[in-house]
Amino acid sequence: MKIISDSNWYKIDTMKTLIKHGTCVTATATFQSDILIEDEKITRLAPDLEIDSDLQIDASGKLILPGGVDPHVHLDLPMFNTVSSDDHYTGHKAAAFGGTTTCMDFVVLENGDFSQSVDVWMQKAQKAAIDYSFHMNLTQFNEKIAKEIPSLMKMGIQTLKVFTAYNGRLRLDDGSIFQALRIARDNGMLVMAHCENGDVIETLVNEAIKNNHVTPEWHALTRPGWGAVEATLRVASMAVETEASAYIVHMNMAGEVDMLKYMRERGVKVMGETCPQYLFFTLDNLRQQDGAKWICSPPMRSKADNERLWQGLSENILQTVGTDHCPFYFDGTKPILYEGEAIAIAGKELGKHDFTKIPNGLPGIQDRLPILWTTGVNTGKITKNQFVAYTSTNPAKIFGLYPQKGALMEGSDADIVIWDENKKVKYGVAMSHQRTDYNLYEGWELTGYPEKVFLRGKLIVDGNEWKGKRGDGKFLKRNVGEVL
Ligand code: URP
Ligand code: ZN
Ligand code: ZN
Repeated sequence: MKIISDSNWYKIDTMKTLIKHGTCVTATATFQSDILIEDEKITRLAPDLEIDSDLQIDASGKLILPGGVDPHVHLDLPMFNTVSSDDHYTGHKAAAFGGTTTCMDFVVLENGDFSQSVDVWMQKAQKAAIDYSFHMNLTQFNEKIAKEIPSLMKMGIQTLKVFTAYNGRLRLDDGSIFQALRIARDNGMLVMAHCENGDVIETLVNEAIKNNHVTPEWHALTRPGWGAVEATLRVASMAVETEASAYIVHMNMAGEVDMLKYMRERGVKVMGETCPQYLFFTLDNLRQQDGAKWICSPPMRSKADNERLWQGLSENILQTVGTDHCPFYFDGTKPILYEGEAIAIAGKELGKHDFTKIPNGLPGIQDRLPILWTTGVNTGKITKNQFVAYTSTNPAKIFGLYPQKGALMEGSDADIVIWDENKKVKYGVAMSHQRTDYNLYEGWELTGYPEKVFLRGKLIVDGNEWKGKRGDGKFLKRNVGEVL
């Protein structure tokens, strides 16, 4: 927005940006078009637009994508005597550099009080630099909580995350999950499920500790994959019984993909998300000297699981690729420089002598689009349109933001990525804005990278330059989503 003034009057004029000669890629089509942005919105989408503008960008030879929508991040999340090391500014800035302009974070439920818990997250997100919304972690359940769940809809939160694992901390019993699904069904809400077998994990962890098996690989060995498969089927079965819809987060096992396919072929309203880390890494990474870098839950599995997840993407069995971004430093005793400030945040070293004390989670909010492009699109495993569907349009649809987000359409928010599909980078911590001391994709040669990123019409990333600002991100009240 431009304010034109003379001595005694003010006129607010529209800021116009014209992007010319680009190739637009959406979830369903690829086409040549110019794009006119007026203030925060896309207002024209047509070839050969000849319109006076304040800023004209030549996107010849470049692709135009809708801004990425990351449905699964954990910013400023307290865990194991520390906190995830990206907050709602640093995480958002990193997201933007990777082409993501909207992300969805999980509110920690305290004292069974939704409103107070949301307020805490709203406060944390005051510094937001991209647009954001919240899911509610439903980690307690009783009659009062059950009655109050619909009030979340009025706050613009239509999603509940339930856990079948993390006994004594986050887990809900099956009866409570079943009731939550019914409440969600009646109120246009969606249950997201973290699927592992909490009881088996508890038993195996106790045994491992008793036997002094304390190295990072035991994190994976005590969280068996079949527990994830079984829990996925369990939640999907409850969705059948309640006629609700369910979304399985961070799918990591071949068997989960099989369950998803089986259920969806039978008309069950179940959807699945995977994350880049489950497409590449295995138990072997946890066996390395720096294995703690790969500790997250659910854990890394096998090559066969990686392959089946890729197949799940190629064949449209899965619906989204999120990140589960929940970074910690590998060595939080040593500060790193972030925007000129030396910052150390306790991290994976907390569990140097005991894997159960290693904070669970990985960085990935910036990595998602560039990594998936090189390894998915450039190899022919997924098309460009599938790439947009998984990383932007489908999450926007499922989580009630479409077509405001996830779309290149007249009337949509002008969240736009100018993508250079020929740009080669050697990726790693040096070019990452994620506030941590390591990157899972260190040294990977990537081809395809964001060149410019717009958030609601404002250029926030221009090559290597950060033009975004703390506080410029907006909370998005979400509507009832679609079942894809
Ligand atoms: O290890 C992980 N994924 N940490 C974040 C919490 C969760 O379960 O998604
Ligand atoms: Zn989870
Ligand atoms: Zn998560």
